[in-house]
Amino acid sequence: MNRTIIAGIGSYVPDNVVTNEELTQFMDTSDKWIQERTGIKERRYVRRFEQTTATIGAEAAKIAIERAGITAGDIDFVIFATLSPDYFFPGCGVLVQRILGLKDVGALDVRNQCSGFLYGLSIADQFIKTGMYKNILLIGAEVHSYAMDFSTRGRNVSVIFGDGAGAVILQPSPDQERGILSTHLHSDGADAEVLSMPNPGFHAGAHRPEWRPPIPPQKYGGIFITQDLLDKEDFYPYMDGQAVFKKAVVKLPEVVQEALNANDYQPRDLALLIPHQANLRISQFVQQALKLNDDQVFNNIQKYGNTTAASVPLALCEAWEKGLVKEGDLVCLAAFGSGFTWGSALLKW
Ligand code: UT7
Repeated sequence: MNRTIIAGIGSYVPDNVVTNEELTQFMDTSDKWIQERTGIKERRYVRRFEQTTATIGAEAAKIAIERAGITAGDIDFVIFATLSPDYFFPGCGVLVQRILGLKDVGALDVRNQCSGFLYGLSIADQFIKTGMYKNILLIGAEVHSYAMDFSTRGRNVSVIFGDGAGAVILQPSPDQERGILSTHLHSDGADAEVLSMPNPGFHAGAHRPEWRPPIPPQKYGGIFITQDLLDKEDFYPYMDGQAVFKKAVVKLPEVVQEALNANDYQPRDLALLIPHQANLRISQFVQQALKLNDDQVFNNIQKYGNTTAASVPLALCEAWEKGLVKEGDLVCLAAFGSGFTWGSALLKW
């Protein structure tokens, strides 16, 4: 059976750099707090009214396509992972298909937040291994800057997240010494709301009676966006940071170890671990738990913040560009986030 290889990788970040200091204009925070608690120094925000998740995803895709030595016309399937789609529906998959001029190929949208890229990679791996597709474009892209609360109320979320995109081209290879060795996906919806953006949504308070909107005057409709919701400005992402942190530092090492065990490897065999860039302190916990050296773990959250579905391909791309990922290297990708959902992929570059 063929293995799935990453034949090309690309990334894109907007040129608008936003420092921690700039955020102090809008909220009660400080460069010191942000760096100490998260490691983040700056992040990127898209050009307002011009760029979107789909457009920056397409920019990353163009680079990945070129580096794979193919043309857009060779792509036979698209997978787009994001939590910040341009539209409620349709998803970013078809928008990127339109931007890149891909004709009639399937486009799938993945809604798994921080682990969206890992879920997408696992799906692509199955399609490639079965011989269904030959050139899959997988994108992880995110525009957080349009939807965050930049007042002090939302500071625990808004200082962390940034905009960016990463993309890969996945192809079959008969070489059994290369490519994706395994993928491992998990979820636990018990704490679905701990990191969530429920509004505006179609839940009508069904999961949480305390979130039930006032009964609208008309019999049908009218509970998607209520005046009450607008008055309370209750339409921003919510995060119980400590709850997420505590779970992440357990599940991430666990899912990396699961990938290593499945392939008879030890942590010391890893050339590079690319953890989801959620918080530098989380990465450091993971590194300690697995007893990895500094040069075995790659982080770039300092420059981009947490870009959720884009963070793993953005970091992998930068590591590859710096020559830190070489042919034959054992590389592990791992992510944990909202849902909760988490996963890992072990690959030989
Ligand atoms: O990618 C998806 C997964 N997401 C994550 O993995 C995020 C995981 N969680 C985290 O990274 C951390 O929990 C945060 C960085 C979000 C927060 O750090 P923390 O050390 O857990 O802080 P905290 O939430 O316990 O808050 C400590 C204090 C609070 O003040 P009081 O109650 O002690 O007076 C917060 O109000 O820090 C305050 N605080 C801030 N202060 C300055 C919260 N956000 C900020 C801020 N600037 N931006």
